[in-house]
Amino acid sequence: MSLSSPSPTPSPSAPAGSARVAAVVRHAVAAGLLGEASPVAGFIDTDGVRASVAALHEAFPGAPAVLHTFAAKASSLVPVLRLLADCGMGCEVASPGELRLALDAGFAPSKIVLDSPAKTRDEIRRALAVGVAVNADNLDEVDRIASLRPADAVSAIGLRVNPQVGGGSIGAMSTATATSKFGVALFDPGARERVVRAFAAHPWLTRLHAHVGSQGCSLELIAAGIAETYRLAEEINETLGRRQVTGLDIGGGLPVNFADDEVRPSFAAYAAALRAAVPGLFDGRYELVTEFGRSLLAKNGFIGALVEYTKDAGGRRIALTHAGAQTATRTVFMPDAWPLRVGAFDAGGRPKDGPVVVQDIAGPCCFAGDVVAHARELPELRAGDYVVLYDTGAYYFSTPWSYNSLPRPAVYGFGLGGTSDGQDPVVRFAPVRDAQTLDSVSAESGLAHADALLGLGS
Ligand SMILES: Cc1ncc(COP(=O)(O)O)c(C=O)c1O
Repeated sequence: MSLSSPSPTPSPSAPAGSARVAAVVRHAVAAGLLGEASPVAGFIDTDGVRASVAALHEAFPGAPAVLHTFAAKASSLVPVLRLLADCGMGCEVASPGELRLALDAGFAPSKIVLDSPAKTRDEIRRALAVGVAVNADNLDEVDRIASLRPADAVSAIGLRVNPQVGGGSIGAMSTATATSKFGVALFDPGARERVVRAFAAHPWLTRLHAHVGSQGCSLELIAAGIAETYRLAEEINETLGRRQVTGLDIGGGLPVNFADDEVRPSFAAYAAALRAAVPGLFDGRYELVTEFGRSLLAKNGFIGALVEYTKDAGGRRIALTHAGAQTATRTVFMPDAWPLRVGAFDAGGRPKDGPVVVQDIAGPCCFAGDVVAHARELPELRAGDYVVLYDTGAYYFSTPWSYNSLPRPAVYGFGLGGTSDGQDPVVRFAPVRDAQTLDSVSAESGLAHADALLGLGS
């Protein structure tokens, strides 16, 4: 396994999309990164990540001051964050843990934005001491920041608003509904006036923040939410008679197409929708911050998993694999909202062909619903084959669920070069996160306190 950095741009002769994944699976099986001893792993396409970041930057050409941050929740892995920092990104964090990861990854504090919805006093103190930007979730939090903020603080401070423009197709992911828990609900009685008063009282409050997402929201809905936020900024500045709001943090939320290889909608389409809905956003009067997560990473990663057994039950073929709810949690619990494409590969990691069979792709968790794909038509899977869950580079392998004490899978980055023999691309892997050991599982499960409960009773 090579530990060297991958080349910054994909080689023109390197395959793309599913063909790219196929090349990587074959090499991963050959290298033992997938197999009996490591039956599930995540893979990140480093060339793809660089290309996605470039597409984001290109969508905002000539825009005056834009800080593009990556939403760390979408891939909370230090090497991934460091790759993104190397690409010129900033980082959006939503917890003390994510702030720590962002700093460890090397983001300058001036390029970090803290958005968590329930900040403790300690969290705020630390953020202000480090100098990262902070978006208050509500007006009580503004008061709390006011009481903790040192006079010489350098952190940009903003207020998150909920433009209440409505939900998308996934209720649990919709942040701009009338009753969303996030931000100040802008159209509730008296809310606007209270927001203006808060800005009047605190001259250091210089940003507005809105995030209309995530996944399932149309470009029009996202743009409508940003337009409302822009209107509020204009109103505040006009009412106060000074340009106090100087920055607009417009969040992330660009949806991802999970149905095929195409990147749609693109960052260019997003920027065009914004230009149409809010032309004033780009005229240089506001510094902009974006916070994309899924749209930067989803299509740049996949999960590979061994098929341990197959069986028939009630007329249904079932493949028992090692990718289930511990790594594809949302897909298992909300299969209609988060369907994933599945690929079938043989024991050598080559794409399978042949007649298709209707199959359930089940995971290793000990509950009946642990199925990542129901009644999927795929070439017949056999024990020793592999499945690939496509487009899982964001929110999947980086945020595992520890049900059944299943260990966190290993994650590898890869880069592809041109073909070495006219056919076979050169694939280089680098470790991103080691697979969790059973010692670690036990330690996380209270091993150090093993006797703690024995002496408590009377
Ligand atoms: C405040 C905030 N910003 C950015 C994001 C990233 O959203 P997405 O991954 O859809 O781009 C989220 C996601 O939950 C969020 O809550």
